[in-house]
Amino acid sequence: MPRRAVYPGSFDPLTNGHLDLIERSLRLFDELIVAVVSNPEKRGSLFTTAERVEMIREATEGRKGLQIMSFDGLLVDFVARVGARAIIRGLRAVSDFEYEFQMALMNRHLREEIETVFLMPHEAYSYLSSRLVKEVASLGASVTGLVPPGVEKRLAEKFARR
Ligand code: PNS
Repeated sequence: MPRRAVYPGSFDPLTNGHLDLIERSLRLFDELIVAVVSNPEKRGSLFTTAERVEMIREATEGRKGLQIMSFDGLLVDFVARVGARAIIRGLRAVSDFEYEFQMALMNRHLREEIETVFLMPHEAYSYLSSRLVKEVASLGASVTGLVPPGVEKRLAEKFARR
């Protein structure tokens, strides 16, 4: 049985911190499914679900053992449906802990057999978040080195149109 994990998130958009976590996860698991939450556009995503999935596909093309999917509904139901036993989440700083702790325990309450695994991204990415990337890009600053080139291009296009 291949060891399969799910790395869920909003990925609005994918950053180099997310990519770092994908690489680390693939060292631990045989198969990784990056699962983009399909939140209703009214919840204020900059990119549509399809765009977020597409950007991850572009940035990880050819990577063995990796699948990119979107999901709606409960994360643990999706994880069970795809036959995975682990959820990967990144912890950048103590400030992430409380929210992550609550989610991990709620998910365990919902499905005891699914374990959450926390990984720390490279320290170069400790300060990096999709929210800040969007903010600085919207104000015209460069995000080179913080996101993959394809994401940088789409951010520029998105904000040029506004
Ligand atoms: O990147 P994010 O926004 O921190 O990811 C949050 C995500 C998508 C993992 C979380 O919102 C989620 O699991 N949503 C699916 C709905 C669900 O299962 N909610 C209960 C979580 S305890």
